[in-house]
Amino acid sequence: MGRMEKIKNSSPEKHLCDKCRAEVKPFWNPIMNQYEYLSLCDECIAVKNQQQKEEELKKQMAMDEEKRKNKIARLFDSSYLGKRYRGCTFDNFHVMPGTESALTRAQKFVENFGSFAQTGTGLIFFGNFGCGKTHLAAAITRELVTKGKSAIFQVVPDLLSRIRATYNRGSEESEYELINALTEASCLVLDDIGAEYQKKQMDDSMTWAQGILYLIINNRYNEMKPVIYTTNYSLDVLEKRLDGRIYSRMIHANDGVVIEATDYRLRKLEA
Ligand SMILES: Nc1ncnc2c1ncn2[C@@H]1O[C@H](COP(=O)(O)OP(=O)(O)OP(=O)(O)O)[C@@H](O)[C@H]1O
Ligand SMILES: [Mg+2]
Ligand SMILES: [Zn+2]
Repeated sequence: MGRMEKIKNSSPEKHLCDKCRAEVKPFWNPIMNQYEYLSLCDECIAVKNQQQKEEELKKQMAMDEEKRKNKIARLFDSSYLGKRYRGCTFDNFHVMPGTESALTRAQKFVENFGSFAQTGTGLIFFGNFGCGKTHLAAAITRELVTKGKSAIFQVVPDLLSRIRATYNRGSEESEYELINALTEASCLVLDDIGAEYQKKQMDDSMTWAQGILYLIINNRYNEMKPVIYTTNYSLDVLEKRLDGRIYSRMIHANDGVVIEATDYRLRKLEA
């Protein structure tokens, strides 16, 4: 416990705590041969010490969080969105028939990210080609990054190739550090889940790709960290394409958002 400033006094007269005005008892300092007072009472000193401890802890936590964010940002730059999706926002998402609730759900996810993060709940965007799934997932990532969160956007097949490339001799990054960052990020988008290369194993064991996906998804599931998925496949097809353990966790931890809009890429043909 840190000593407060001393107030020297030659005689033990009444002295009040600077903060709460309670009486502070004098004590005899035999070395100085005099009575002394602390400027605060014992209770106020205890409160102050507790506050200092909490502030230091908060500072330390903020520093750790900053380090974690920088590490993730170094490995997964938000430019990974690619040129087309880098400019995707909620504002430039035009509400088309069938997209209204999807836009609202995406915006609510960002707005209430705190509670989604608390419960580890994510979203799955279902829908046909070009209905705006990736646009909304990219907009969510951008918004979260703007809010200072560590959010990663990854196209599943690309991510798997990148992880596979770490096995090459001389690779500058390791599978371990990539998986770590993917586990630690506040939010992870897995774009096009189910589109990864499939090869049925004779013995029904997972393929390499499924094993890696399982590792990432299970880590996040255990840590209760949200994942946003987009997929072209219906629930039934996904169930067949994904390993049962992945599918089970995905369904448990996510709310489904179905987009029934037509292909935005083809809208010029409709005019
Ligand atoms: N409602 C919308 N308003 C504005 N732009 C849109 C809208 N829907 C889609 N787009 C744009 O159309 C293109 C295709 O959309 P997006 O990539 O999000 O579709 P998707 O559902 O992910 O399709 P796929 O299943 O083929 O991956 C993107 O450039 C996107 O920005
Ligand atoms: Mg897409
Ligand atoms: Zn006091």
